Amino acid sequence: MKRRPDDRGYEHPVPSEITPRGIHLARRRLLQSLAFGMAGGGIAVWARAMPSAAITALQPVPSPVPGARATDALTAADEAMHYNNFYEFGFEKSDPADYAHAMKTRPWHVTVDGLVAQPRTFDLDDLRGLATLEERTYRLRCVEGWSMVIPWIGYSLERLLREVEPLGSAKYVEFTSLADPASMPNLRSSVIDWPYREGLRLDEARHPLTLLAFGMYGEVLPNQNGAPLRLVVPWKYGFKSAKSLVRIRFVEQRPVTAWEKTAPREYGFYANVNPDVDHPRWSQATERRLGDGSGLFARRRPTQLFNGYADQVAGLYAGMDLAKFY
Ligand code: MTE
Repeated sequence: MKRRPDDRGYEHPVPSEITPRGIHLARRRLLQSLAFGMAGGGIAVWARAMPSAAITALQPVPSPVPGARATDALTAADEAMHYNNFYEFGFEKSDPADYAHAMKTRPWHVTVDGLVAQPRTFDLDDLRGLATLEERTYRLRCVEGWSMVIPWIGYSLERLLREVEPLGSAKYVEFTSLADPASMPNLRSSVIDWPYREGLRLDEARHPLTLLAFGMYGEVLPNQNGAPLRLVVPWKYGFKSAKSLVRIRFVEQRPVTAWEKTAPREYGFYANVNPDVDHPRWSQATERRLGDGSGLFARRRPTQLFNGYADQVAGLYAGMDLAKFY
């Protein structure tokens, strides 16, 4: 099996079932050509060319959301699918790709409740069918200092909010991930008070850049990236983007998130990407893009305020001291 060194020079196996980047690019070109109106007869030929273990393709349309198209080069799909944080499966970056295949993502239901006029439990297909799936290229920057540029597939969370009609008293939204001891070996660890929980202010949740993602790189989400659906909040550190969601609850009080409980001084509720506000144990001034080398030889780039989305989201925090509300 192919092996790949991580940041510290340790080698990890690269499972072969993930679609390689070359195939992704071919698939992407095909999706693009379909979007431009080429005959759909190409699909059968293309499907036959896929390795049998390839995950299901999604057919997104280009996103109309301004700023949803980062111009940065895409991160290679196999990097984005093999260097992950999904602590339910272990602490190593390679653990999610090695173990998350045990998670069952069908059938899947998401309960949307709390302070809403129309509480509802959605079947995955109903949820996915609520709106047209768009491909949006967003940067994701993790608190430990690496970043990536990923073509996500989903729609603005706001579309779901409209469906359940939040009440006037709803001020925050709490997101809860699956906690299944049968498939998630690291639930034994007490570092996090499981299930993984995250939260957003209602206006952040309503911002069009906040995405409910069902896929990436033209495919349904691989388990290690948060199948079957996750949040993507591109102007915040990656830990806000909770994976494998099972509940979305509208509340009046600010929810206490999993990382806030574990280390409140290190992981604040807001977690806006900010090069001027350091993590207590390391600087946030620069970042390493996945694929830009590793260890001492990695190329580092200056981190941008709000991860480069300041012109769209800075208004949400007007008048707030970002060092205090980190
Ligand atoms: N969601 C759950 N349920 N469990 C997790 O451990 N890790 C978070 C976030 N969502 C995490 C999670 C962190 S710290 C990061 S950086 C991103 O997922 C990583 O997303 P990726 O693995 O798709 O790059």
